Amino acid sequence: MPPIYARIIATGSALPERVVTNADLEKIVDTTDEWIHSRTGIRQRHIAADGETTGDLALQAAKNALEAAGVKASELDLIVLGTTTPDLIFPSTACLVQHRLGANGCAAFDVNAACSGFVYALGIADKFIRSGQSKKVLVIGAETLTRMVDWTERESCVLFGDGAGAVVLEACDEPGIYTTCLHADGGHKDLLYNPVGVSVGFTDEPNHGVRIRMSGREVFKVAVKTLDSLVEETLQAAGMQESDIDWLIPHQANLRIIEATAKRLKMSMDRVIVTVDKHANTSSGSVPLALDYAVRSGKVQRGQNLLLEAFGGGFTWASALLRY
Ligand code: COA
Repeated sequence: MPPIYARIIATGSALPERVVTNADLEKIVDTTDEWIHSRTGIRQRHIAADGETTGDLALQAAKNALEAAGVKASELDLIVLGTTTPDLIFPSTACLVQHRLGANGCAAFDVNAACSGFVYALGIADKFIRSGQSKKVLVIGAETLTRMVDWTERESCVLFGDGAGAVVLEACDEPGIYTTCLHADGGHKDLLYNPVGVSVGFTDEPNHGVRIRMSGREVFKVAVKTLDSLVEETLQAAGMQESDIDWLIPHQANLRIIEATAKRLKMSMDRVIVTVDKHANTSSGSVPLALDYAVRSGKVQRGQNLLLEAFGGGFTWASALLRY
């Protein structure tokens, strides 16, 4: 039997309508556009409207991707959705989206790997396709992270935004995805987490304590170091070198972290997709949003090699090296 590969046949994305600029944030916390932009690269973020959910954004991104792929929802045999801000505790957001798409019957589940959620979901979908279990798979990364931002804490509230991205994968006899690398280290939990879950800290009080806790400077240091070894590992696993990569499509948390990874890969910044200025950190939404922007703007072309990477709470970190 010849090997089976998973190939991205189309991408899609969705952003809430409301844009909040750094100047808007200057009115609610003690900050400046200059501080935010020079430390993070962020100029603005999109924020979900009241009542607009992760599932709504995921659905819109999924419809965009399916339309671009020319694939009907009924043809899907798997939906994997990366999120850390699901609509409900259960059913999963993947199930809610599946029903709204009319893809009933196929397997559907969420993956919570914080900001690495989409790349984890892509890695899992790749294994389903390679094993012959699935032929057409929808992979989504979607978040409404601003729902758990503390708008009085200037260290973190300036960093996040809402959004979703999606890809349709198809089984193919040529790559496709060459390799994915998924990792986690729960030992760093206290550097980036939300203290409320179902069996810890749960109360009937609306939004009680549901707030991101982050030690920004420490997260920054670990992220740079970890992504450095991740790209090394990924190149080795695919049997490639830096010069084989056409585009780096990184998690969009901080421009300085992105620049450090590009430097490690000896890539000039004009081969790096940057959307952090417009979207801020949309967690699981960030990599597929950047990918969809890269495809639709005509930057990324068929046949090019893309390196996707992400880092997030857990800590989790993950990469995918693929031919688009
Ligand atoms: N506006 C103005 N000043 C701010 C501020 C804000 N929004 N947030 C913090 N400051 C102040 C601090 O209070 C501190 O003041 P001090 O020197 O008087 O104590 C000063 O700016 C420097 O703070 P520091 O935390 O050292 O800044 P930094 O250069 O490390 O940048 C982050 C802070 C959060 C931007 C940076 O650490 C970062 O991006 N970390 C990674 C976060 C991340 O990506 N998380 C998600 C991972 S998926």
